[in-house]
Amino acid sequence: MAALKDLDKTVRGESDAVEAAKRHLVQPWPYAGSIGTEARSLIGSGEGIYIMDGDGKRLIDGPAGMWCVNVGHRRKELAEVMYAQAMELSYNTPWYTMNEPSAVLAERIAGHAPGDLDHVFLTTGGSSAVESALRFMQFYNNVRGRPEKKLILSRGGAYHGSTYLSGSLNGRPRDRDWMDGADDLVVKLSAPNPFRRPAGVSVEVFADRLVSEFEATVGRLGADRIGAFIGEPIQASGGVIVPPGGYLKRIREICRYYDILYVSDEVVTGFGRLGHVFASGEVFGIEPDIITFAKGVTSGYFPLGGMVVSARLMDELRRSNHPDAMFGHGLTYTSHPVGCAVALKNLDLLEDGILDHARAMGPYFQERLKTLEELPLVGEVRGMGLMGCVECVADKESRDPLQLDKDVGRRIDAHCHELGLLVRPLINMCVMSPPLVITRDQIDDMVAILREGISRTMDDLRREGVWNE
Ligand SMILES: Cc1ncc(COP(=O)(O)O)c(C=O)c1O
Repeated sequence: MAALKDLDKTVRGESDAVEAAKRHLVQPWPYAGSIGTEARSLIGSGEGIYIMDGDGKRLIDGPAGMWCVNVGHRRKELAEVMYAQAMELSYNTPWYTMNEPSAVLAERIAGHAPGDLDHVFLTTGGSSAVESALRFMQFYNNVRGRPEKKLILSRGGAYHGSTYLSGSLNGRPRDRDWMDGADDLVVKLSAPNPFRRPAGVSVEVFADRLVSEFEATVGRLGADRIGAFIGEPIQASGGVIVPPGGYLKRIREICRYYDILYVSDEVVTGFGRLGHVFASGEVFGIEPDIITFAKGVTSGYFPLGGMVVSARLMDELRRSNHPDAMFGHGLTYTSHPVGCAVALKNLDLLEDGILDHARAMGPYFQERLKTLEELPLVGEVRGMGLMGCVECVADKESRDPLQLDKDVGRRIDAHCHELGLLVRPLINMCVMSPPLVITRDQIDDMVAILREGISRTMDDLRREGVWNE
């Protein structure tokens, strides 16, 4: 096959791309002061766990793109299946036709889902998956004759997307400062973040308090007004927040008792990040009503997402008194044949060894990353499987991140970039979620670079008088 540069005359040199971006490209999550004028690090190619920047520097892809390149870059099998499917059938309308890859994919995904979750609706990514799940809840309650049961419970630290309703669920600091949202529909609960629990409170008591808060909220608002709870099993973009043991199960039981739909957002945790296709059942022992997924379903090779819905809900709809009620929801690219073909091949790769490998590497990754807690700037290293977070604090005792120079994550990222590692900076945190194919030696390299990047950042902060241990 011809090289990309030969095929596409519009792919030009780096400086052209940077200039074009500065003049015409609006980057995601921009600031008003630089919107529409910003160029970011140009990435030219990738292979395995590595990407190449515009200067030809090889970097470990620490966040695997955006938690998505699970099987690694430049997998020929995925490129070939994409080509073959596009040559066979590049698109068909899902409004009144169907294609084979989507049906087979639905069956395969259903086979991995916990409990009675066995029906799949496909979307274009995570936000549209979350949006679909919540619109489905609204439809379900309308059909069941309880139109007032629509409130959605979300939590601090959550990230569920960038469409209007999914964005309204977000609970990370700063996400919503300048943005509107469907605030009449969403109620926020506390983040299940053990590291930020009140001083002097044990993790067990903290978990009890979270559960009590949930019950009190249901009591205050009335179960007949609450349609759904949505939660990531591990809050990913909130800083890899692993909830206290047993907490998710307890919330699940309360939801079941009050007939509140439990939506488990596995956009990050799904498709191998924790060693399984879905973590809700296998890792956390819960059977949600709906699971949303995206990212790793195609390892980022094609924009695809979706939700798996419980057979019970499907059955209730079919048996309702409103057989003519229409779920007025569908996207042009729902069940896209190319995306589904890529997802099927990606699932083959995961099942044929990568899930096993991820399960084997997870503990080693966590163990190596944990050694960074020795550094005075590091307050906590936490995570599970192949997702981890290094949280920096001004002072280990008080855990105070606030007096720190706010850009500490970015400073670490800048040093690591020099040293050959891309990290995902999040205010005072660095999040790591490498491609699942990472080896022990590569984990060692990654942690060594991170250690050096943090050490250099400590030197800078000391020199500037911003921080001292
Ligand atoms: C847990 C979770 N849900 C939903 C989304 C939104 O997905 P997308 O960006 O594909 O719309 C994300 C994105 O990072 C996510 O982390």
